[in-house]
Amino acid sequence: MTNVAVYPGSFDPITNGHVDLVQRSLQVFDRVIVAVAFNPNKDSAWFTPEERVAMLRETFASHGSRIEADAFSGLLVEYAVRKQARVIIRGLRAVADFEYEFQMTMMNRHLTPQVETIFMMTGESHFYTSSRLVKEVAMLGGNVAGLVPDVVLPRLRERAREKASG
Ligand code: PNS
Repeated sequence: MTNVAVYPGSFDPITNGHVDLVQRSLQVFDRVIVAVAFNPNKDSAWFTPEERVAMLRETFASHGSRIEADAFSGLLVEYAVRKQARVIIRGLRAVADFEYEFQMTMMNRHLTPQVETIFMMTGESHFYTSSRLVKEVAMLGGNVAGLVPDVVLPRLRERAREKASG
């Protein structure tokens, strides 16, 4: 039996913290589906779901079929069942992540008890990295090189310029 896990998130955009988590996940699971969650009615993301998936695909291009990049709307647990994944992976950085993750895990378990959520600790060099902060720093002209994959950097800088100029 192939052990498939879904790694969901906004990935707006993917950061090197996410990449670190995917690499750790590949040591435990046969296949990891990195899944961009979007809400078609209300999405304040900088990048469209298609742009986010394209950045995921390019980031993981060398990993072959063990990593799939995809996007979904609707309930995460229903998506996991559709993809025949029994595990949802979430990353934990600092203690601050815990409350939010705890609530989501309990709700997902209530909805679909057969899907288990597993947490992994991000590598310590990524403890302070988040898509939100990376966007804020990029918007204010700060250096975000090394915080996001190389394929993301020019797109992030370009989008930050567009946002800054209104
Ligand atoms: O990267 P994020 O923004 O912290 O990821 C949050 C995400 C995408 C995992 C969460 O918003 C989610 O699961 N969205 C899908 C809709 C859903 O199932 N909502 C109920 C969660 S309890």
